[in-house]
Amino acid sequence: MNILLLGSGGRECAIATSIVASPKCEKLYIAPGNGGTAALGENVALDINDGEAVAAWAKKNDCSLVVIGPEAPLVAGVADCVRDAGIDCFGPGADGARMEGSKDFSKSIMMKYDLPTAAYKTCTNLEEALAYLREQGAPIVVKADGLAAGKGVTVAQTLQEAEDAVRECFDGRFGEAGATVVIEECMKGPECSILAFTDGETVKPMAPSQDHKRAYENDEGPNTGGMGVYSPVPIVTDDEYATMIDVMERTVAGLKAEGIDYRGCLYGGFMLTETGPRLLEFNARFGDPETQVVLPRLETDLVDVMVATANKKLADIELAWKPEWAVSVVLASDGYPGDYKKGFEITGIDEANALEGVHVYHAGTKLEDGKFYTNGGRVLNVTALGESFQAARDRAYEACDLINWDGKFMRRDIGARALRGRDAWEI
Ligand code: AMP
Ligand code: GLY
Repeated sequence: MNILLLGSGGRECAIATSIVASPKCEKLYIAPGNGGTAALGENVALDINDGEAVAAWAKKNDCSLVVIGPEAPLVAGVADCVRDAGIDCFGPGADGARMEGSKDFSKSIMMKYDLPTAAYKTCTNLEEALAYLREQGAPIVVKADGLAAGKGVTVAQTLQEAEDAVRECFDGRFGEAGATVVIEECMKGPECSILAFTDGETVKPMAPSQDHKRAYENDEGPNTGGMGVYSPVPIVTDDEYATMIDVMERTVAGLKAEGIDYRGCLYGGFMLTETGPRLLEFNARFGDPETQVVLPRLETDLVDVMVATANKKLADIELAWKPEWAVSVVLASDGYPGDYKKGFEITGIDEANALEGVHVYHAGTKLEDGKFYTNGGRVLNVTALGESFQAARDRAYEACDLINWDGKFMRRDIGARALRGRDAWEI
């Protein structure tokens, strides 16, 4: 079959790698794609937030499955247009995507279905927000309600910081997305994510994963889209994993009770607190970079899983996983997440990929005359599988050291805290 995948990050490169490994896939199109996906299928120029255009393009090119990677097209209802055109779609419609598109909506679902999370209040004007902040005190968390490209959350250590964050929201820093503000109790503990395939009835969870958000070693410096990730998470107990799965199942049951027919990947972001795992957020899609450590461990044909998800037949699928651990290190452009230069030739990708268990996924690259050039802040995700956490980590760094360009930058401590154990986290 022909398949159209929407998106252009490392996540989409990992999804594309698994899709083209399936004998079911005849032709893969990626819109708009990146240098890595250009080597796996055909990149196409398409406005991925325009549902009618995506559905028409998919129809014209005989695609029988559309897979939606990022949140913006999901929130814009692209999945609804694709399904209305009679084409299978992996990704929730606009109603289900509100789980990510509105913090107020997802908190209301958490409350209604008694899912463990932080106490909160939703405010629609400055006076109400300031009064609540002063009543609660710091530390406290301020979140713009809508999509804000990962920049809408402030974990405020002081009341002043919290008040500034609220003022910025109501002053229009995030446009409509900040016109409503969610103010939340500040929780403590390691973070852990669970991705789950769901067709709105059946839930098939994937192994937990843990991202590293800060730019510099020892979790210092500015927040980024993620500098490295691993899966499973050695510090998660069996009880915590069971609780997180139970929460994901109760969430999907709650969505069904709300009349939402959610088909795709649901991402639960948790904090492992002293009183057990509690929800930080939901995303309506695969995580980036979590996907880059979860999918290489999947043995089941991803196209089968996606088609079953789209057709409410997930109960018929048995997921099989490789027993290995996966560690992924992000190679970034010097200066990221601030200003950086692009256009440098990248060498050593083939050598790194030739190592056993290594997958080099492209995030910000472009392919020109058979050569790869840097084309973004986060350039490559170097994932390695290994029979132990340490083995996977050593192999990932061995592969990273084979790849070079002018201004390559990475954190050398991905997974270092997990190796030290739970005590490495202050609770
Ligand atoms: P979110 O997009 O809601 O997951 O928030 C982004 C990041 O902010 C999370 O990954 C956490 O590091 C942090 N965060 C969000 N909510 C809270 C909270 N209630 N307590 C502490 N940290 C939080
Ligand atoms: N890694 C966090 C996310 O995908 O939103």
